Amino acid sequence: MKQSVKMIVGNWKMNGLAADLAQAEAVKTALAEAPTANRVGLCFPATLIAQAAWRLKGGAVEVGGQDCHAAASGAFTGSVSAKMLKDAGASLVIVGHSERRAGFGETDADVAAKVEAALRAGLEPIVCVGETLEERDAGRAVEVVTGQVAGSLPEALRGQAFAVAYEPVWAIGTGRTPTVHQVAEMHAAIRRALVDRLGAATTPILYGGSVNPKNAAELLAVDEVGGALVGGASLKADDFLAIVRAA
Ligand code: PGA
Repeated sequence: MKQSVKMIVGNWKMNGLAADLAQAEAVKTALAEAPTANRVGLCFPATLIAQAAWRLKGGAVEVGGQDCHAAASGAFTGSVSAKMLKDAGASLVIVGHSERRAGFGETDADVAAKVEAALRAGLEPIVCVGETLEERDAGRAVEVVTGQVAGSLPEALRGQAFAVAYEPVWAIGTGRTPTVHQVAEMHAAIRRALVDRLGAATTPILYGGSVNPKNAAELLAVDEVGGALVGGASLKADDFLAIVRAA
C-alpha cells in the first residue's frame, strides 16, 4: 500500500550543540513558508530537547529523543526516562536503534520494555529493526528482522500511534543502500508481521540508512515505505528539507 502522508524523521545521534539548533529553526521556518503534507520530526541528543522544543514551538517540526530508559525514574545514573523526555517537550522517541542494540547490548525484550515506557509517558515510539551484512549474506535478513519485530513490539502497541524503522545495519552511515527490490521485500514482510501481531495495517514503516537528497525520492516511492529515518543528512537544514520535499 502506498501511504500518501510520509513521516520524515531526523536522528542527530550524538551530534549538536545549542548553536546547531539554528539548523532546526531553519527547517521550521522553511516549512512555515512552504508547508508540507508530510510529518516532519527531529530527534535530538537529550541535552538539546528542552531548548529545541522551546525554539520549535508552534511549528511543523515534531521533537523527539533517541532512546529512553524503561523505568520512569530511579537510581539509573546517566539515564533519561521517557517521562523526562515528554516533560522536556518531546513527542517522539526512537527505541532499539542498531547503535543501541549493538553498542549497548539491548535485546528485543529491552526494546519492548522501552516501548511500553514510551507509551506510558505519552510518547510515540519509532522502533528500529534491521539485519547485519552477515545476516543478509546468509539469506536470513527477513527472518532476523521479522524476529525483531515480534520481540520488540509489545501487545500494548495495539491501536496506538507508533512507527517502525527498517534500518539495515550495513546501510547506516556507509553511503550504501539496499536495492529498491530489497526494500520492497522487507517492508512487505514487516507489514505482514505488523498485521499478524497487532492488526497494524497503516502504521508507518520508515526506511533508514544512508538516505540523502539524491536517493530519497526513489526510496520513498517504494511500496510500504511510509517515510524515512535520516541520520547524517538531517544535520543540515538544506539536506533534510530536500528529503522532506522529495517525499
Ligand atoms: P544515516 O543514519 O542516515 O547516517 O545512515 C540513519 C540512522 O542510523 O538512523
